[in-house]
Amino acid sequence: MNAIIDEFPQPADLYYLNHAAVAPWPARTARAVERFAKENITSGARDYSQWLETERRLRERLARLLNAPSRADIALVKNTSEALSFVAFGLDWREGDQIIISSEEFPSNRIVWEALRPRGVEVVQVNLHDGAAESALLAACTPRTRLMAISAVQYASGLRLDLERLGIGCEQRGVLLCVDAIQQLGAVGMDVQSSRCAFAMADGHKWLLSPEGLGVFYCRQDLREQLTLHEYGWHMLEHAGDYDRDDWQPARSARRFECGSPNMLGAMALEASLSLLEEVGMRQVEDALHERVQWLLDGLQGLSGVQLLSVKEREKRAGIVTFALAGWENRALHERLKTAQIICAQRGGGIRLSPHFYTPPRVIEETLRLLRAVASQ
Ligand SMILES: Cc1ncc(COP(=O)(O)O)c(C=O)c1O
Repeated sequence: MNAIIDEFPQPADLYYLNHAAVAPWPARTARAVERFAKENITSGARDYSQWLETERRLRERLARLLNAPSRADIALVKNTSEALSFVAFGLDWREGDQIIISSEEFPSNRIVWEALRPRGVEVVQVNLHDGAAESALLAACTPRTRLMAISAVQYASGLRLDLERLGIGCEQRGVLLCVDAIQQLGAVGMDVQSSRCAFAMADGHKWLLSPEGLGVFYCRQDLREQLTLHEYGWHMLEHAGDYDRDDWQPARSARRFECGSPNMLGAMALEASLSLLEEVGMRQVEDALHERVQWLLDGLQGLSGVQLLSVKEREKRAGIVTFALAGWENRALHERLKTAQIICAQRGGGIRLSPHFYTPPRVIEETLRLLRAVASQ
């Protein structure tokens, strides 16, 4: 445990509960970035082949994290929104096609589909609040439905969906399942094969504990060539680096979605962050996170005036707890928490708290202590 505490040397008077927004880096990630900077100062890209080794390891780690069949299924992208756009503007839509989304998606996983309206594509929003989210989503499918685009974990309510159930249901209906995994990957285990994902995407800066600017795009192998490409360059070619060649074709692997020079700095960081998650093990990460979320839930439920806006059941949540407090405007409460160095977010009509597996007990104790004081004012 000490080794983990050393990875997150946050000041004793800072209470970080905002991993669902932008997470702190582990110390090893900062060291990887420092090492890379020093290397670039002294020897530039002399050892580029070693950088490619790190990049290869990163793809392997991401493939393991998603349980993708191979690292060839993994593309390194700028962010979740870019990967969603690759799918939205890659599939061959027909007039009248339908896309199912939920009514509480983060804007990235809504507007990208609504942007297809000029092509005659209809976006159907399904309300998830009736307690049977998966049934409601599947029941909304019609013979015209081509794709279901859903966040594995909703960014505001924290609702985690049963992806396996959705995936099997989509498969039976001939619907492609596209999963925005940014609020799940790194918090709770994920398996693109058992959940029959056609596509899955996530960014590194939340539960994966890495900087912004580098994310992952999983594209099922048989669908890779069905996505029309809209970005071209040297790096996405089958024979990348063979600059004298006139003929070309996009890489058979998911590298076809990576048009030019990679975000090598981001790769150094994300590889280091994932090495920590892999060392700890996703099962342990998940259990430790659930324990902390449960502690917050129990503490909040004991306070008068608290309205819980997120889910209580373990199998339906990941790392997000959202609540409102009677007599307090969310903005004022958020300010009050911020003044006390409790870092969290205002989302979904309440205050969103998001610990991670390493969150020290003092962070939860202090947050609940302050909320108790505020609630009894
Ligand atoms: C569910 C969800 N999807 C997408 C995003 C944005 O992702 P990106 O910035 O990687 O495009 C967020 C960010 O909060 C999110 O919560």
